[in-house]
Order: sequence, then structure tokens, then C-alpha cells
Amino acid sequence: MQGNERLQGIVDGLARALHDAVRELRITEDELWAGLRYLNEVGERGEFPLLSDVLGVSVLVDAITHGEEVGEGAGATTASNVEGPFYRPGAPVLERPYRLAAEGEPGERLRVSGRVTDDGTGEPVGAAELDAWQSSANGVYDNQDPSLGEFHLRGRMAVEPDGSYEFRTVVPPPYEIPKDGPVGALLRALGRHAFRPAHLHLKVRAPGYRPLTTMLYFADDPYLDSDAIGAVKDTLVVKLERDDGTDDGAARCRFDIALQPASR
Ligand code: BEZ
Ligand code: FE
Repeated sequence: MQGNERLQGIVDGLARALHDAVRELRITEDELWAGLRYLNEVGERGEFPLLSDVLGVSVLVDAITHGEEVGEGAGATTASNVEGPFYRPGAPVLERPYRLAAEGEPGERLRVSGRVTDDGTGEPVGAAELDAWQSSANGVYDNQDPSLGEFHLRGRMAVEPDGSYEFRTVVPPPYEIPKDGPVGALLRALGRHAFRPAHLHLKVRAPGYRPLTTMLYFADDPYLDSDAIGAVKDTLVVKLERDDGTDDGAARCRFDIALQPASR
């Protein structure tokens, strides 16, 4: 289905679902007007993407787009995850040894390593590039707090010819999604918190492979089961290793990445 036909199908489907809900819930006129006023406010504050996130729609569309059931990975391919509102294209290309966080950045030091491979053959993808971004220790991104500096905790890194990579950063904290607007008010009214479990965002690009946008999460995080946007997938949760007397005392985690050839 193309163009107007596709639009017709979407509008019909949404209207059908809305009519069913209105009928089933016996929505009153007052409730209808309260809902419409609310949606106006969401638009005025530019929070429709955030509303889609907290209603689980963004995660569902991501899963459909990548042929995954919600909560599961698609076979050997590393599961995708939503991009979220804080990605910035054009992050600086870093030089080896890779440091996403500058010396002295607040937070526990972390070394992230892994290998990028082809999901079918297991061969290394030596031409892959990682584009990583994360929040700072106080739970905000540089585009929320420009005083952090441009492209703070962001960087692009080429992997080694054998597909391996390693970069240093700091352990990101769980943080609250923006909650001072209508979406925050909705979460409070529903008795839901606004926290996302700690995570690190990654885009992985390589010639001949489907680009991957994903996140890695950390085992034992208190918000893994109640993420405000419901985006956690088991296969994306890694263990933080600590205290085994290795050289620099940093926490470590391993995240291997399997890419899908573009031809499939
Ligand atoms: C994020 O992980 O950056 C994010 C995703 C959705 C809403 C808010 C933040
Ligand atoms: Fe995030």
C-alpha cells in the first residue's frame, strides 16, 4: 500500500481502535475534553515523541521495524533499541586509545570492550564504526545541559581489523526522563516513576551491513524491570565486573555485537 491508501489504512485502523476504547470505557464528554486539552499541551511542549515513548509505542515500532518480538532479540543479530531524543549526529571521531570520558569526568571509571561480527558467519567486521553517547553522572545529556560542553560523552570509534574494540568511559547512572511537562504529569497521575535504568547508547555502522541502533544496560540495575519507556531487552543487559585486582581498578563490561548483512 502506498501514499494515500496507506494513510487511509492507518487512519481507519487508529479510528477503529479509538472507537473500541471509547465504547468499552464509556468515555464521557468531560473526559473527552480533558483528553483533548491534554494533547494540546503535549503538542505545545513538543512532547509527542516522549508520549509515544512512555506509552510503549516507540519500542513497539522499533521491534516491528527490526522483525523482533518485544523483549526478545532476533536470533543471532544484536537486538536494536530506540534512539531516544538525545542523539546528536556528527560526534567527534576519537583517537586510540579511545576515551569517551575525559580524565577527571565524574563517575566510576568503566572499560567497555567487545567484538563486532557478521551475524551469519561470525567473521569479524573490521570496517565497523561505533557511535556512542551517554548521560553524565548527574543524569543529563549535553543537549539538556549545554554547560557540559559540546559533544560531551559522545564519540565515534573505528573498531580494530579483527572487529574488536575497547573504550574507556564512566558508568552512566539511571536517570529520569524529562518530567516537568505534561508527560511527567501523566506519569505522576498514574503512579509511575520517570526513571530509565543506566544505559549506554550505541549506533554501529559498517559498509554492507544494516545500521544498528541499540543500548547496553547493566545487570542489577534497580530499574531494569520498570524502565519508564519499557525498552530493556534481556540480550542487551551486561554484567559489570569489578574488583578482580586488574591494573587500573576500573569496572569492565563486554558487549559483543552481531550485524546483519544489508543483503538479507
Ligand atoms: C534515552 O534513553 O535517551 C531516552 C529515550 C526515550 C525517552 C527519553 C530518553
Ligand atoms: Fe538515554
